[in-house]
Amino acid sequence: MRAASSNLLALVFLCTCSGALYVWSRLEERLERHRRGPPPPPDSVPELPAKTFRALLAVPPARSALFNATGGNRPEARPFPRTLGEITEDGVYWSGRLESFLPPGFGEDHGRAWRRRARSSPVVSLEPGCGRVSNQLATFSDGSRACVRYGIDPDQVQGEALSYYLAALLGISNLPPLALSLVGGAGQQWAAVRRRVEGLQWSGRAVVSLTEWVANLTAVATPALLRPESRGLNARQADLENQTAAGLLRLVQWSDLILFDYLTANFDRLASNLFSLQWDAAAMRRDTSNLLQAPGARLVFLDNEAGLVHGYRVLDAWERYHRATLASVCLFRRATARRVAELHRAGDARARLLELYRRREPLHAALGFLSDAQARTLQRRIGALHGHIADCRAKYGRDAGGGV
Ligand SMILES: Nc1ncnc2c1ncn2[C@@H]1O[C@H](COP(=O)(O)OP(=O)(O)OP(=O)(O)O)[C@@H](O)[C@H]1O
Ligand SMILES: [Mg+2]
Repeated sequence: MRAASSNLLALVFLCTCSGALYVWSRLEERLERHRRGPPPPPDSVPELPAKTFRALLAVPPARSALFNATGGNRPEARPFPRTLGEITEDGVYWSGRLESFLPPGFGEDHGRAWRRRARSSPVVSLEPGCGRVSNQLATFSDGSRACVRYGIDPDQVQGEALSYYLAALLGISNLPPLALSLVGGAGQQWAAVRRRVEGLQWSGRAVVSLTEWVANLTAVATPALLRPESRGLNARQADLENQTAAGLLRLVQWSDLILFDYLTANFDRLASNLFSLQWDAAAMRRDTSNLLQAPGARLVFLDNEAGLVHGYRVLDAWERYHRATLASVCLFRRATARRVAELHRAGDARARLLELYRRREPLHAALGFLSDAQARTLQRRIGALHGHIADCRAKYGRDAGGGV
């Protein structure tokens, strides 16, 4: 018994150490990146004045392959919302009119078609280009590309994949399509790069994630309204009227990002910038890691591997930063708030996520799913998020106490 409890203690100690080491190594990587070159000037992303909204929409033709055209009204024919009354609705939502200007995200049809191709197309090369060496840029035989994520720790691919499906459940379409693949599988998909895979020392039984490669991405810094010195995003924030069109459209997507990172407890974006403020006063002005922008002000949420699995393991260390980040947002996309409310009322986030994951991902069993404790944490965070939205409604909404 005593041996069992000392073994248990040793195990708990080891888990704590490995969690701390992982967090520390990510922070070291961040510091190293900052050391490698001079930091970009704050707010280096060029801003478009509202008047040039037509220019904002004038993106290279390649973009249309990525973001399916919405069709319908041509946005530039309608006036872009400028006043608080036009930008927001019911005190806590971005207006439908503002949202109608959002560039389309990675739609479901696009995702389905991409996954089908990614699972069957032979990989003809693997090279650097997707971050650290365990992430490789794969080129398929048709010339299209994907970032391959090989998890040194299986939690990484699991976190990446389950975060992707949670975003789908929430109707957040800023994540590029993802498919799982078995590197040593029976098919011929990896045959042409077998030597390279061996050179990378990837296990033949590894399940990797493939994420659609997106061209022409640029860096994104945290908007001033979301930095700690600001009073945050809410329907009485007069600074919203001073935003450029592109800036406002980014803020709409940032509100989804903050909700998403809160639910998944992903510390590797805004929360880690907040944490770094302790020794780096300019941390919030630097580019946000794992967040990039495609042409047309569409934010792309990349590298979600810290979400749900690892993020929950190190929750105690990060929760105050997650809460501080969430507290800065009292404006939401109505559709996202509605999904959160549904998941809260039904209390079935685990079942819905599992159903979607099983339906869309043939390798779901090989990678595994959330443990019961992780599923409970997710449901609890959905409840906390729903409570936060209700608090915002009580503070800023017209119908205090009304439903979503
Ligand atoms: N799907 C993608 N499409 C285009 N570029 C990508 C994609 N995924 C990753 N990249 C590029 O690779 C970089 C690193 O990606 P990622 O964050 O997944 O890896 P990482 O090893 O964690 O790197 P970092 O430490 O810089 O975050 C991104 O900043 C981006 O430039
Ligand atoms: Mg990263």
